[in-house]
Amino acid sequence: MIVKKEDIIKLPGLVDVHVHLREPGATYKEDFESGTRAAVAGGYTQILDMPNNVNPTTTPARLQEKIRVSKGKIWCDLGFNFGATVDSTRYFPKVYKKTFGLKIYMSQTTGPLLVNKLQEQDLIFKSWLSNLPTMVHAEDELVEVAIRLAKKYKRKIHICHMTANQLKAIKKARKEGLKITCEVCPHHLFLNRSDLKRLGPLGMMKPPLLSKSDQQKLWMNLSEIDMISTDHAPHTLEEKYDQSSPKFGVPGLETTLPLMLEAVARGKISIGRLVEMTSTNPRKIFHLPAQPNTFMTVNLEERYKISKKGLFTKCGWTPFVGLEGRGEIKKVVLRGQIIFENGRFSGKPQGKVIYPD
Ligand code: DOR
Ligand code: ZN
Ligand code: ZN
Repeated sequence: MIVKKEDIIKLPGLVDVHVHLREPGATYKEDFESGTRAAVAGGYTQILDMPNNVNPTTTPARLQEKIRVSKGKIWCDLGFNFGATVDSTRYFPKVYKKTFGLKIYMSQTTGPLLVNKLQEQDLIFKSWLSNLPTMVHAEDELVEVAIRLAKKYKRKIHICHMTANQLKAIKKARKEGLKITCEVCPHHLFLNRSDLKRLGPLGMMKPPLLSKSDQQKLWMNLSEIDMISTDHAPHTLEEKYDQSSPKFGVPGLETTLPLMLEAVARGKISIGRLVEMTSTNPRKIFHLPAQPNTFMTVNLEERYKISKKGLFTKCGWTPFVGLEGRGEIKKVVLRGQIIFENGRFSGKPQGKVIYPD
């Protein structure tokens, strides 16, 4: 008789505050349906969408359009972050109750949102009156400019996709009493610059991969980092290999949990800390509404190499191919209903558009 070994654990639904779902504007590479399927298949039950669409989410009308279009199509709960520009500041008082974070792009990246003048950055920090954080894309030492502005206006600040060279500035600001939080991305935890030889353009994202020692520094300082966010940023393979206009970003919703559960098995992080970083902390920091009776069960005995087979993201590839993954999601339950079981979705999309508590 063959006995299948099973070691089933129950985990809360995961949360990702940093996801690019691409709808509207680039639904050939992801949309609300495919992106939230990828989320659920990766164990996420609550995610926040970023504003850098082709027409960015910088007006109440564009926000309303996202809310309208996503209804009835989303497999997990979905909230929105608002885009910061000088012009969009006038809408802050109108939209802050409907959105979670304000996203300011202080460094150049995919999409049309870039605010690189100090005067404009200053106005934006001054104008966001919400008690939810301003989420900053500020690479390298630019993070210090963001920290100075947050201090000046006593605002909460969340450092997106932090890198090892920013740890010192973040720790210092925290010590000085600033309400500062930060996230690390799986690609910065599991890949480094030496993987670029193998990955080519598939290893390109913003901020870029750094050295192996920078990567190790992130693991050594996990206790200083509030959460893990995927920065799920799908692009088609054609776009990634198009040398004339390289697109930055990698998908991550479906690979983060298996990579992290393997890290737990190797003793690099405890399961309790993993739950804090992928569920408890983001829920608290972004005032996300509670999700009663929402959880997943995972068979920890399952081990495999990450591959692109069976991915639900429309882009259909992952930069983590060949890495060790662990854990098979048996089922995902959202508000008491099984929405995903043994690799299949069941029923209709049950996700809700969410607003800050
Ligand atoms: O690599 C990235 N891709 N970094 C970003 O900041 C944006 C993202 C995207 O939207 O593709
Ligand atoms: Zn970013
Ligand atoms: Zn991003």
